Amino acid sequence: MTDTAARSYAEALDEADPLAPFRSRFEIPDDSVVYLDGNSLGRMPSETAPRVAAVLHEQWADRLIRSWDEGWMDLPLEVGDRLGTTLLGAGPGETVVCDNVTVNVFKVLEAALDLRPDRSTVVAHKGEFPTDRYVAAEVTRRRGGSVRWLGPLDPAAPLPIDPVTAMQVAGALHDDVAVVLLSAVDYRSGAIAELAGITQAAHDAGALVVWDCSHAIGSVPLDLPGIGADFAIGCSYKYVNGGPGAPAWIWAAPEHHGAMRNPVPGWMGHSDVFAMSPDYSPAVGVRRFMTGTPSATALAAVDVGVGLLAEAGMAAVRTKSLALTTYAVDLYDRWLAGTGETGLAVTLASPRDAALRGAHITLGHPDALAVTQALADRGVIPDFRHPDGIRVGLAPLTTRFTDVHDGLLAIRTLLEALR
Ligand SMILES: Cc1ncc(COP(=O)(O)O)c(C=O)c1O
Repeated sequence: MTDTAARSYAEALDEADPLAPFRSRFEIPDDSVVYLDGNSLGRMPSETAPRVAAVLHEQWADRLIRSWDEGWMDLPLEVGDRLGTTLLGAGPGETVVCDNVTVNVFKVLEAALDLRPDRSTVVAHKGEFPTDRYVAAEVTRRRGGSVRWLGPLDPAAPLPIDPVTAMQVAGALHDDVAVVLLSAVDYRSGAIAELAGITQAAHDAGALVVWDCSHAIGSVPLDLPGIGADFAIGCSYKYVNGGPGAPAWIWAAPEHHGAMRNPVPGWMGHSDVFAMSPDYSPAVGVRRFMTGTPSATALAAVDVGVGLLAEAGMAAVRTKSLALTTYAVDLYDRWLAGTGETGLAVTLASPRDAALRGAHITLGHPDALAVTQALADRGVIPDFRHPDGIRVGLAPLTTRFTDVHDGLLAIRTLLEALR
């Protein structure tokens, strides 16, 4: 019988993995490092440095300011189109790469609230990524509205592991709700929200939906138009491998393009950027969500990451992702779960059903912070998430099954030494 806990089993999975060759397309100076944090900062594609160097040497140094007319001006929409059509199910002209997620949450929430002028409540989850919660609270406060929080009533209660459901959201949807703001994949549990059902429930109640797809893009195939979403935002430094501080993106459903307003009406979102006109007149379509001057080098890096995912194909990425998290949960069950003599008192803070998970799982343990730090000293890099989570990110283009094996074995070894 196959021993799934044996390293040879993980090696066999790597050998059979059709996406395994993609790892060689990334810079991996130390192959012994077990990197389980590609869901925070994806690895660096080998093509990034030459592509960015080409922008620097051939476009900046050589062509100087002429490069704006020779392509740079169109990059936010061109890269946006490639990102949107490959990873979001979007059509052309629906996605723009700009700013960071925080700024984009602000812009899009304001725009969505403006589209529902007689309502001023935003529904969001208590366990949502902090920036989204902070921005939602501020945006509604400015309008004399408020956020209606989903999640446990008791502030001390642990955050739920299960995905946010349409039924849960529907309970909060009164006629004051303008917008529902939620993450497609939860940053802690990795749970995939009930995307289509929640969107439908919000629409039935006359509200709009903004999806934060930061943890979903590049790991879970998305079809934003298919689920009827209104707006989406997300980053490109996780599974898209766009690099540290890579610009974020905004997707807007075409039906909103005419009426949506950017609350930061910068010159780059103007209908005629160099007209220097006295008044702001928004560009047609999603370009109006631009604010100021974009970074041509950063956009080139994002484009490389999108290109690799396009080559791999999101269906194959998801297939491998499911296999990686399933294997991780299997090893968790064998090595870390349970209490007493046999177990190490680690909990699984992610859904058991693989179909309900994105590409990371979170393991709960009271010493999670110390364990995460000690792992880093041993060349194993997951990340810690407050209050007691060891988040294990499994990036399908670069994570090997042997990384899952070695990483979870390192956690077991450390916890055994601690008890
Ligand atoms: C779900 C989610 N939303 C928002 C952010 C914030 O992104 P940014 O730092 O680009 O504003 C992050 C960052 O990791 C995130 O994971």
